[in-house]
Amino acid sequence: MHRALILPLALLLAASPALAQAPAPPQDHRQLVNMPDLPRSLMRADMQDHLVAMNEIIGYLAENKLADAAETAEKRMGQSAMGKHAAIARGQGPGRFMPDTMRQMGWNMHDAATEFSKVAKTGDQAKSLAALQQLTSSCVACHMSFRTR
Ligand code: HEC
Repeated sequence: MHRALILPLALLLAASPALAQAPAPPQDHRQLVNMPDLPRSLMRADMQDHLVAMNEIIGYLAENKLADAAETAEKRMGQSAMGKHAAIARGQGPGRFMPDTMRQMGWNMHDAATEFSKVAKTGDQAKSLAALQQLTSSCVACHMSFRTR
């Protein structure tokens, strides 16, 4: 760097306490899982749909429409929703790039959605809510442990 620039630059830095003392961002303890673009985009699309489905389910529960809640859960998140990308992914589905514990957490989510669906079909609203929390717990478990970027 040209010597004439060094002093003004040093003064500028010294005069920016906000820059020098920027608070450290909170730590991120999640494990980074690298995925190629295709499986990562497929997973993101799934995740967005899970959130939309979850929102619909809560709405159905509030209206006591348990059969509708059961159907949404099974179709969109349950065991019947597994492997739906096979045609596009051709072996490059997100599951292939997940560490074992992460893949297991994914299976747990599908199982929890299917279990919720079964409980909701019995028409018991209190038990359905408890089963729904098992499902949201499966979202939380994975989100607290892994990230893809
Ligand atoms: C097997 C692990 C796993 C499970 C189970 C899981 N997620 Fe995710 N989800 C992730 C990861 C990893 C990301 C990306 C986070 C990142 O890299 O920053 C993500 C991202 C998301 C996003 C953000 C999508 C975007 O716009 O980028 C939403 C919304 C989401 N998940 C909802 C859910 C819901 C709702 C459930 C439960 C029904 C759920 N997820 C279950 C792993 C999981």
